Amino acid sequence: MPKIHADSKLKMKYLCPLILALSAAAEYSGTVLYQSPTNLWLENIAARANSHLLITSAESPTLYTVDPRAQSVTLNEVFTFPNATALMGITEYKPDVFAVVVSNLTLGPPREALGTVVIWSVAFDAKTGAVSASPAVSVPLLPNSNTAAPQNAICINGISPLSSTVILGAESVSGAIYAFDMVSGSVTSVTSSPQWIATTNASAPVQLGINGLKYHDGYAYWSAGVEELFGRVRVSLGHHDTIEAGVVEVLTPIDNPYTVAGQSADDLAFDRAGGAWMAVHPSEIVLFEQAANGSWVQQTAAGDASGIDLTTFNGPSAVAFGRGEEQEGILYVTTKTGQLIAVDTTGSTY
Ligand SMILES: *[C@@H]1O[C@H](CO)[C@@H](O)[C@H](O)[C@H]1NC(C)=O
Ligand SMILES: *[C@@H]1O[C@H](CO)[C@@H](O)[C@H](O)[C@H]1NC(C)=O
Ligand SMILES: *[C@@H]1O[C@H](CO)[C@@H](O)[C@H](O)[C@H]1NC(C)=O
Ligand SMILES: *[C@@H]1O[C@H](CO)[C@@H](O)[C@H](O)[C@H]1NC(C)=O
Repeated sequence: MPKIHADSKLKMKYLCPLILALSAAAEYSGTVLYQSPTNLWLENIAARANSHLLITSAESPTLYTVDPRAQSVTLNEVFTFPNATALMGITEYKPDVFAVVVSNLTLGPPREALGTVVIWSVAFDAKTGAVSASPAVSVPLLPNSNTAAPQNAICINGISPLSSTVILGAESVSGAIYAFDMVSGSVTSVTSSPQWIATTNASAPVQLGINGLKYHDGYAYWSAGVEELFGRVRVSLGHHDTIEAGVVEVLTPIDNPYTVAGQSADDLAFDRAGGAWMAVHPSEIVLFEQAANGSWVQQTAAGDASGIDLTTFNGPSAVAFGRGEEQEGILYVTTKTGQLIAVDTTGSTY
């Protein structure tokens, strides 16, 4: 008996680390296609129909483009916005026409200077490919109904189209969703939640509230830092273009099994099966899938949930699926340390 006991103990000793290693391992690996030599903070991605990616930076007023299929991937300038320091969310709202959040931004904690925030429209000519850019919505000091939030500050972050003229935008400080009309220039409050508010504690490891936003199947799906939540709210266009919002639903808290101090939910993207892939700081891509019973289950799809291995996913800021031939299963990821990463989601790594 003592021998068997010792034997099983020995087995446990060697099996346990293996089991732990497997359960902690992410299902998909990432390939770094590009690393900025200056660690330029890359902030958001939009994939064009021609498979090129448009990339914004929170540290530069230049909109970049990359061809992720190139042998050697480089960032090339598309347009540099005047009188600004940073770009945040980008989204396509008409074929090859993109909305971009342009502002004077200070980082740590991220704040866009009041009066400097403008949503621009950037259009690519279908025949010549020529770029034209024009300011569409000048964002004023927004009405802030969440009185617990820092006042007199904004951070329009993730944006997503509700229609071919109206863009929804997450405001990460007051904790609200706004609608921006790219034709009339109007700004409308859609809804707000105490769960979306930024912290007023400047030394807290997670600063921003609502961050990522994706309009999908009639809902604005959102991620929120501070409280680390994934949720949705039904939003629709009513008569005379009024905007109607349902109740704010929390779908699931974002797991933090390693109690990582700086875990913070960022941008998200939907795959064809309806799974939501989310960039989560400091080093993880989380996949949320709806189970048959309706609840949302999550797994670490790529990166390191413990926040220790920062080599490949060092501060994931945005995710977008590629477009075009052999691109639709590739998840592109940007990081705040200047990485562009490709994750092939069509086959797992083991
Ligand atoms: C915004 O940044 C631009 C570019 O650095 C600068 O010229 C401008 O004065 C800034 N505006 C404000 C209001 O800070
Ligand atoms: C730059 O932005 C400021 C407000 O932020 C504005 O007063 C000024 O007119 C702008 N300058 C240009 C050249 O657009
Ligand atoms: C602010 O955040 C820091 C870092 O997490 C924490 O140590 C401190 O207690 C917080 N302060 C308040 C007033 O909550
Ligand atoms: C729903 O299904 C998931 C996946 O099978 C399971 O993990 C979860 O416990 C279920 N939830 C309920 C409330 O039954």
